[in-house]
Amino acid sequence: MFGPVFCPQLMRRSVMMGLQTRILKPCSSEILRGRFMAHQESLPNLPVPPLKQTLDKYLKTVRPLVDDEQFKGTEKIVKTFGEAQGLGETLQSSLEEHADRKENWLSDWWLDCAYLESRASVIIYCSPSVSFPRYNFTGTKGQISQAAKVVAAILNYKVAIDNENLSIDRMGKAPLCMDQYYRILSSCRIPGLNKDSSECYARSWRPPRHILIIHNNHYFELDVYHEDGSPLSAQDLELQLNKIVTSSQEPGKAIGLLTARDRDSWGRAYHTLNKDQQNHNSFHSIHRAIFALCLDQESPFVPDDQWRSDLSGRCLHGGGSKLNSGNRWNDKTIQMIVDKNGGVGLLYEHSPAEGPPIAAMLDYVYKHCENLGQQHTTSSSLPEPKELLFNIPEEVSKEIEQAGKEIDAMIENLNLTVVEFKEFGKNFIKSQKLSPDSFIQIAFQLAYYRLHRKAPATYESGSLRQFRLGRTDTIRSCSTTSDEFAKAVVENKFTKSDLAQKLRDAIAAHKHYTIDAVDGKGIDRHLLGLKLTAIKSGKEVPDLFLDDTYKRAMSFNLSTSQVPCQADLSMAFGPAVAEGYGICYNPKADHIILSVSSFKDNPDYDVHVFQRELFSTFREMRDMLLSTSSKL
Ligand code: COA
Repeated sequence: MFGPVFCPQLMRRSVMMGLQTRILKPCSSEILRGRFMAHQESLPNLPVPPLKQTLDKYLKTVRPLVDDEQFKGTEKIVKTFGEAQGLGETLQSSLEEHADRKENWLSDWWLDCAYLESRASVIIYCSPSVSFPRYNFTGTKGQISQAAKVVAAILNYKVAIDNENLSIDRMGKAPLCMDQYYRILSSCRIPGLNKDSSECYARSWRPPRHILIIHNNHYFELDVYHEDGSPLSAQDLELQLNKIVTSSQEPGKAIGLLTARDRDSWGRAYHTLNKDQQNHNSFHSIHRAIFALCLDQESPFVPDDQWRSDLSGRCLHGGGSKLNSGNRWNDKTIQMIVDKNGGVGLLYEHSPAEGPPIAAMLDYVYKHCENLGQQHTTSSSLPEPKELLFNIPEEVSKEIEQAGKEIDAMIENLNLTVVEFKEFGKNFIKSQKLSPDSFIQIAFQLAYYRLHRKAPATYESGSLRQFRLGRTDTIRSCSTTSDEFAKAVVENKFTKSDLAQKLRDAIAAHKHYTIDAVDGKGIDRHLLGLKLTAIKSGKEVPDLFLDDTYKRAMSFNLSTSQVPCQADLSMAFGPAVAEGYGICYNPKADHIILSVSSFKDNPDYDVHVFQRELFSTFREMRDMLLSTSSKL
């Protein structure tokens, strides 16, 4: 089968798009009339890359991660796999046939492998949080008023999604798949045994009219539409939220803690609870809700300089069983969180969408929640919010206690910091005719190498949304070129101009890999496709995937993602492995916002040490460039 990699239209576009045009425009927060889904049909299908291309690139990317002897063994394994009429070619043909039958050969497999089949807790390990810059509200009154504005802004945004009026995201000139925007509201993950499932009611014949409000561990269904279909105004919402808060002053049983457990434990408890009709009805309402709003209890005081990191952590995990970790439903795709001390943020369940559509919605919320325009307010005849009740048997009460202990231990083990590098941002890097994203990624490589004296297997998300139903591939930021640069800096025997050249080479190599990855020529999803093809056709898993080198390459010391936002929003997530960091960054014109996470039980990986090293690396790389450039 000749996949669209040979499609002349696609090739022409690839040639036409120079470096500068390969940009994923961050946030389409402006709402325009009559655009949205019109282009979907014309998007190309995700190609299956040629086998040889992937195997050659695989060897290149693993080279800095293993020693010479191990690499020789891997070369042999890869050669055998790629032989003419060998196992690799058989799997490649089957994969191409599968791709011929599908709108996107990868999307269902990726949803299962990356999310629904994972048995780890979604908390810290999977769901990212987003924190907003600090507002100046305090107390319950301020909390309710701010929460009402946030809800009203999301409902406005939803009108644009429903009417297909959002402007189309683009990478350079290429339009991107907008399907994920349809999946972020009115959707929920459902726990299962061995595998979860996912439900989305946005396009159902009877779309939901309610949101889920969680306060003091009580759950409420709140209808947010007038009879004429217009959304409630912020003023009306404030009245309704007040009723909810007044009626739930005593803490409820923290059933939400169960949703933070590993998926099998939660799946078993869910199965037990779901046998009861009242519980079943409450679950159904939660699953259908447009999104969840968590009105959190007061959290302990932290100094101003730690406030953002603290908020980011509370959004990521709730702050503990004694704080707000039970005041959640972590299966809900969108949980907006509003505290009593100027804090607004979100936790999103990752399976339906990547960060950029979420960031686009939040940019809209941030920009518009203080200026919502004309709204339809009645203030009378608003229906009463309905509390969702649960019958919790003794055995599940014990599970809730256990869930509390588990989340407390997980939080205790997490180090998370949100920081702002203020000395320069994208503008300086662009003035050097370099890609800001690649510059930042190479700084991660050097900072890591300095601290740990080895090359880090690195994951950066690269968008595949140029293709229909596309999600991501991995940009492997660690290359022989980045490794050479890091070693050259540490060895300290090169001239400034040699170092600057090695830096430019490393940045260029990263940008090259990025362009390939977002063009469907990455290696990670292709290799996954070959592995799954073997498993699904009852063949043995090929040696390539059992090789220690493959395991090393998949153990991501740096798990990173750029999520650009127009506002100073910060996304955060946990690290992928104990020997590593999770880093999310929002590069702005003249500063860079970053979150860095690691696990405390590995003291060699301290976020504060890494952050200090990274900031001095940023400065050092700037100085290297300036020392050999006439432009300031
Ligand atoms: N000289 C001057 N300017 C340059 C340049 C160069 N050599 N290379 C790039 N630039 C400019 C770009 O034109 C762009 O300008 P803009 O700010 O005016 O738009 C800017 O620098 C940023 O480009 P760059 O830093 O190269 O990154 P990018 O915007 O192309 O993004 C990825 C790279 C990998 C982040 C992006 O392609 C992507 O895939 N994003 C999705 C990630 C994702 O899904 N994350 C969430 C996972 S949950």
